[in-house]
Amino acid sequence: MNRAALKLANIDASTNFMFSNIDKDENHCRLKGPFYFADVCAGPGGFSEYILWRKSWVFKGFGFTLRDENDFQLYNSCCISPQSFQAFYGTQKDGNVCCPDNILDFKSKVLFSTRGEGVHFMTSDGGFCVDGYENFQEVLSKNIYLCQCLVALEIVRSHGHFVTKLFDVFTRFSVGLIYLMYKCFKKVTILKPNSSRPANAERYLICNDLQSNGDVENIRIYLRLIAEKMWKLKDEEQTDVLEIVPLDIIKSDIEFLISSEVVITELVSLKLWL
Ligand SMILES: C[S@@+](CC[C@H](N)C(=O)[O-])C[C@H]1O[C@@H](n2cnc3c(N)ncnc32)[C@H](O)[C@@H]1O
Repeated sequence: MNRAALKLANIDASTNFMFSNIDKDENHCRLKGPFYFADVCAGPGGFSEYILWRKSWVFKGFGFTLRDENDFQLYNSCCISPQSFQAFYGTQKDGNVCCPDNILDFKSKVLFSTRGEGVHFMTSDGGFCVDGYENFQEVLSKNIYLCQCLVALEIVRSHGHFVTKLFDVFTRFSVGLIYLMYKCFKKVTILKPNSSRPANAERYLICNDLQSNGDVENIRIYLRLIAEKMWKLKDEEQTDVLEIVPLDIIKSDIEFLISSEVVITELVSLKLWL
């Protein structure tokens, strides 16, 4: 369908097919299926096309995206059957992931369809045109960064996986969000797939193995509150949410700091070597 499908293929291959082979994952292989996934901020649907092309009717997908010119077009695909895919647009019927009511509606439909368990994995790829404002892409996208992460915590089942698109991650807001996802999943990684244009800021946060404990529940509630706050502030020009985890808390988490530093050092040495 599009180049996005190849990005997910790259991500999947780079992670030893952790998404498309979730039916073979030790935490999920006891079940016969179907295996469920959600594809959020996802029109026209290349990610879903990739998954359904690999797994056909064994996997079932739930989609959520803006109802605009980028709406899902899976019925036009010549390599998958759209029967295994269902699109939702929320109570507002517009597919806006930043609207808290839409999130709750999507959550209830997904949980209903998966007997309360949630999906095995979720992908999200939210982005919009920032022509003329490229330097502000991260700030303009912070609401969808947050809401995509919130949806994942609402609908991914225990030990499930999540991948979401980010652009730059310079602000305290983005760092705090990555930190919170790091606290919820066993492992998080940032990857730039080969098929993503080298000159743009796009990269993917890959979150492996959702934990289920009180911390995750508290973070889910916290992200819900922030999403509601940001929704209320969406038309305000002077007020915004700038930070969601105080920097000193992040800095005091030595394990998080060391692992981020190792990655940065590796990238720098790779660059020098190249
Ligand atoms: C890069 S495209 C996604 C491509 C998709 N992964 C694929 O494989 O075809 C970005 C998508 O994010 C959607 N989007 C942007 N803002 C959104 C929002 N607030 N709520 C829901 N979807 C949004 C756009 O409409 C578009 O469909």
